[in-house]
Amino acid sequence: MSRLIVVSNRVSPPAEEGAASVGGLAMALAAGLRQYKGVWFGWSGRTTEHFDGALATTETDGVTIATVDLEEIDVQEYYNGYANKTLWPLFHYRIDLTAYDRSFGEGYDRVNRRFAETIRPLIEPDDIVWIHDYHLIPMGRELRRLGVKNPIGFFLHIPWPARQLVTTLPRHRQLVEALFAYDLVGFQTTEWLDAFKDYVVHEVEGRVGEDGRIEAFGASTRAAAFPIGIDAKEFATAVHSPAAMRMYDRMAANTVFRSMIVGVDRLDYSKGLEERLLGYERFLQDYPEYRREVFMLQIAPLSRDDVDTYQDLRARLDALSGRINGAYADADWSPIGYVNRNYRRDELAGIYRAARVGLVTPLRDGMNLVAKEYVAAQNPDDPGVLILSRFAGAALQMKDALIVNPFSPEEVAEALKRALSMDREERIRRWRALYNGVVREDVNAWRDSFVAALEATRTDGGQPVGRSLRT
Ligand code: G6P
Repeated sequence: MSRLIVVSNRVSPPAEEGAASVGGLAMALAAGLRQYKGVWFGWSGRTTEHFDGALATTETDGVTIATVDLEEIDVQEYYNGYANKTLWPLFHYRIDLTAYDRSFGEGYDRVNRRFAETIRPLIEPDDIVWIHDYHLIPMGRELRRLGVKNPIGFFLHIPWPARQLVTTLPRHRQLVEALFAYDLVGFQTTEWLDAFKDYVVHEVEGRVGEDGRIEAFGASTRAAAFPIGIDAKEFATAVHSPAAMRMYDRMAANTVFRSMIVGVDRLDYSKGLEERLLGYERFLQDYPEYRREVFMLQIAPLSRDDVDTYQDLRARLDALSGRINGAYADADWSPIGYVNRNYRRDELAGIYRAARVGLVTPLRDGMNLVAKEYVAAQNPDDPGVLILSRFAGAALQMKDALIVNPFSPEEVAEALKRALSMDREERIRRWRALYNGVVREDVNAWRDSFVAALEATRTDGGQPVGRSLRT
């Protein structure tokens, strides 16, 4: 078996694996790599005065974790700048929040070059290289410039937006052209894949073959959908851990005679947190009989706190949760628990299990693994109900959730009412279908299908790649 070299901006060292704030990507990769020999490379999260490409390495279970420090200006231009002020908002359809600054683009290219130069000496002839997410789109091209001939794949964890949005990006052609340095480009769902193809066909007169081959810019690549999943088995074990059970008991004691609604998200505008609170407020207003009967726990660990749009959102959420509590709370009951701290994964598993409703309502999301974790944590005999935004990639797989439009407070309020009054039989029927999907399409299936498709490009026999989510 070839070694796998994985590259992502955020690398989660095993010691921090339990932290919830690392986001879906790092959790999925940590789980996905456990069964692989190889290297996981990325930014250390630290800065240094002068970039020197010095690698800090540790080894666990056959995986070498290698990280590098960046200069402060790199962090500003590449991470806070092009990645999180330009690409992240644009790819989540927030053109109003998208900042275009030439220095961001330069920092982005520089860091991608630096990453490529740093990892280059570690790549052996039989290795396959798998690069992750929007921070590192040009890295494959940089590796090719350094003479790397190995199969190189890229996976985008966030949505690929509609062509009309991509074209608002100065130098959008260069960004898309960089994807053609890869042997394989993976998206979370066919929706994002189709948007990418649409750009290629209509913007740069490329060609899309039936077998997943895409030609443009005088080059060709393969593109397909590979929906990411969770480590369902590991999560099922976490649910029964002492930490999870302790947390479950704490939550149960806090919600005696009440139903808990839970939301868990990085504090990010793509997650629809304001809209969610407004939907809940609408629910309290429209269904007064439920007041005092419910408690909503919103866990929202701080994220990208150096970026002003995140600081603004934080202030608005503080005000909104305070306003709703102020308007509806009673001496012995408050409708919302709004918490910015982090919880360990096993603790989260206990919280999910104690919640009658999982409220996952992003305005736009590549996949969303909280939805899958919520399902995996439920008690099979008395499961809770998942309410899921139609704009999460996960909605294409999780059709037995209550699917809502998160922009509509009425729809969210109605779904809450429906979830809270759903009989046990229907809850079990819906949960079973969801759970089977979560187990079947888990993180191992995701990793294995991507790696197999990337391996296959060595001797590209023209086999179709990936799988269709349109069932
Ligand atoms: C999303 C992105 C990841 C990112 C994570 C956490 O899941 O797709 O690439 O790592 O958010 O964000 P952060 O900026 O803290 O790495």
